[in-house]
Formats: sequence, structure tokens, C-alpha cells
Amino acid sequence: MSGEHTGHDFFHVDRVSKTALEIAKKETGVDLFLIQAAALLHDLGDYKVNNTKKSEEEILKDACNDLKIPSDYSFKILEIILNMSYSKNIKSRQKLSLEGKIVQDADRLDSIGAIGIARAFAFGGSRKRELYNPEIKPKTYTSLEEYRNSENPTLNHFYEKLFFLKDLMNTETGKKMATKRDKVMKNFLSEFDAEWNGKS
Ligand code: ADP
Ligand code: NI
Repeated sequence: MSGEHTGHDFFHVDRVSKTALEIAKKETGVDLFLIQAAALLHDLGDYKVNNTKKSEEEILKDACNDLKIPSDYSFKILEIILNMSYSKNIKSRQKLSLEGKIVQDADRLDSIGAIGIARAFAFGGSRKRELYNPEIKPKTYTSLEEYRNSENPTLNHFYEKLFFLKDLMNTETGKKMATKRDKVMKNFLSEFDAEWNGKS
């Protein structure tokens, strides 16, 4: 994943792993190996970065085999990764283990706040999206395909996904962190709006 330029590089998975372990400190009876393994592998076969012919599941199974992860563990790891993404949760919320909920919170936290802003524009740029276009209004997506194929400007992504995340947190620690990061994005957007209108 090194050198990946849309915000899904090794540093992203490393942050997710660290944040997940931080969240885990406040939870009881969690399996830290499972959390770390799921966090580090979670974007390996993601549709945004997968440019092979292999499916996400195949990529993950191969990785677990290469890493000699015992099969009862790889089952739990795949169960988390294949169900945690935002797009797969649009139609209905997928069931996740406590470890999965923690990794999902950590992944979502990396989409918001200062780093989230940077990642959103990096991703938008990679897909040749406009920064902002006042004529194009935010959409409500009802399916995975519609969400994944959207070509809306990056600024819309804040209203189409990022501002929902704080209320979708699974853990109390995640919620606290998300509330702070949400404010960072709101401040950024109010500055953006003022500058767009030549007022700041
Ligand atoms: P998941 O991987 O959980 O399905 P996403 O597909 O929404 O979640 O993508 C994860 C990250 O990729 C987002 O948080 C954001 O940084 C970036 N991203 C995805 N879609 C967009 C978009 N339409 N505009 C800007 N950034 C996006
Ligand atoms: Ni991720």
C-alpha cells in the first residue's frame, strides 16, 4: 500500500490500527490481535484500490495464508473487513463483532477531522472531481452502486457522508473523538464558504 495516493496508503491503515487500539483500551474483553490484524488488512482488497482481477475476498484470503494466520482467525478477520465499509452499510447496517465495531469507528475517524479533509480532496483529485460547484446539490444515496459511481464535487462528500459519521459511531470513545473532528470540518467549511464569497 506504500505510495498509494488517494488516502488509502500504509499510513492510513497504521493510523486506523493505532486509533483502534486506543479505542479498545476503554472496552473490556476484546481481542487485540484481531483488531490489529483487521485494521492493517482492511483496505487491501478495497474496490477503491484494487486494480487486480481478484475479488476482495480472494485478496484477503491470500494475504491471511501468506501471513500464516490460523483459519479460525482469518475467518473472523474477513467477517469484519467484508462488512465494515461505509458503502456496504448504506442499504442496511451489517452485523459486526465488538472488534469489528472498534475497527469501523477507527476507519471512519480517519475520514473526518483535519486528516479527513485532506483525504477527501486527495481522493476527489484522483477521480478528477471538482472541488466545489454550487450548482450541484448534495445527494442522498440509496445503494452501494449509486454511492460508488457518484461524480459529485468533493465538497458534497461532507454532506453526503462525512457529517453523518459522528452519529454512526459504535463506541463512546469513538463518539467523543468524532465530535471533536466534526467541529474541525464545520469550521473548515464555514471558512471555505466565506472565502468562496470573497468575505474573509
Ligand atoms: P468505505 O471504504 O468505508 O466504503 P468510502 O468508500 O466512503 O468508505 O471511502 C473512504 C474514504 O475515501 C473517504 O472517507 C474519503 O476520504 C474518500 N472518499 C470516498 N468517496 C469520496 C468522495 N466521493 N469524495 C471524496 N472523498 C471520498
Ligand atoms: Ni480505510
